[in-house]
Amino acid sequence: MNKDARILVIDDEAGLRDLLSHEFALQGYQVDTAMDGCQALEKLAQQTFQLVLCDINMPKMGGLEILEHIRKLDSDMEVIMMTGYATIEDAVMAMKKGAYDFVQKPFNLEELFQLAEKSLEKGDLRRTILELRETKKKLEATQMQLIQSEKLAGIGQLAAGVAHELNNPLSGVMGFAQLLLEDAGLTAQQRKDIETIYAQSQRCRTIIQNLLQFSRRKDPLQEVLDLAPLLLATLDLVKYDFSTSAIDLSQTVPPTLPLILGDASQLQQVFLNLLTNARQAMAGGKKGRLVIEAGQRGNKVFVRCADNGHGIPKDIQDKIFDPFFTTKPVGQGTGLGLSICYGIVQQHRGALYVESKVDAGSTFTVELPIYERL
Ligand SMILES: Nc1ncnc2c1ncn2[C@@H]1O[C@H](COP(=O)(O)OP(=O)(O)OP(=O)(O)O)[C@@H](O)[C@H]1O
Ligand SMILES: [Mg+2]
Repeated sequence: MNKDARILVIDDEAGLRDLLSHEFALQGYQVDTAMDGCQALEKLAQQTFQLVLCDINMPKMGGLEILEHIRKLDSDMEVIMMTGYATIEDAVMAMKKGAYDFVQKPFNLEELFQLAEKSLEKGDLRRTILELRETKKKLEATQMQLIQSEKLAGIGQLAAGVAHELNNPLSGVMGFAQLLLEDAGLTAQQRKDIETIYAQSQRCRTIIQNLLQFSRRKDPLQEVLDLAPLLLATLDLVKYDFSTSAIDLSQTVPPTLPLILGDASQLQQVFLNLLTNARQAMAGGKKGRLVIEAGQRGNKVFVRCADNGHGIPKDIQDKIFDPFFTTKPVGQGTGLGLSICYGIVQQHRGALYVESKVDAGSTFTVELPIYERL
């Protein structure tokens, strides 16, 4: 039995109020009373009750009306109606409006105790289920993060090795291509071919640099930072690109945000990657609209980047943060952008996640813990 439960008895009959108050208190409950709807609403606004025993037939405000108010206040509170008229309609109406049950006056106290206990158990059960659901959600999110970080760490080591091995031969290819280009006796076609070799090698070098960056497990700098000016400066960098792509950019970024601890250039790279992806997702099709929002939520600072691009199908949403996962045509994306972002945000003890709907758009959110001065 939930003896800590607080019960509110609402009845215009002083005798019944006193009796119930006395009897329920004897059972160990904490009881309060109200003589009418107004007083009841005042008490309900001031403190939380787990159970309300409410008379249906009262002058001024009837029990059904009070029940409606209660439902608006707190959907968790259980309500048992007490009716002297016992018309089935009253009872049905009360149950429809969310009452747990009703008792008919004059009632047997033992029955009322049992009903009260059952209703309180139901409330407890509902709260436990809600808590369990919340815990399950958190566990699933943590598990996803763990899988992702293990995957990243494994691939990171491999990538670093491969990138190092490729760097030297590639420098050779580029160096010799440059040497060849200095030869005055080349035909136009030969020159064009060697230039292609050089340009393609340069592309490889960019990929290798990205790989190294992705795999470099170096800790980010620990600067005390305000993300707002950093974000605004990053937006300035891409504004021109967005305007030439005819994308509407709207931003709700306050001039300052609570400080965080981090690496400005790494975080700027996160925002740039997210903005680039958004622009690419909005290319072609309907008019692009990008909404950037930043603010504080609890002990975190968030930056949200919402586009109305082609969206991400559900079945690949958990793959997009994997290195080399790309849906772009060969030669257009390496699939490293988001995995780099994920790694950076993770090293900042933050979170990066996506919500997306195909054809409607995608929203990427970065959350970083607020710096707490010791
Ligand atoms: N805003 C977005 N809208 C729709 N899909 C997106 C968005 N951002 C990322 N994606 C999807 O996630 C995939 C991986 O993104 P990621 O940035 O890691 O690589 P990429 O953009 O394909 O290549 P890279 O960034 O290396 O040039 C993309 O290919 C795309 O399918
Ligand atoms: Mg990208």
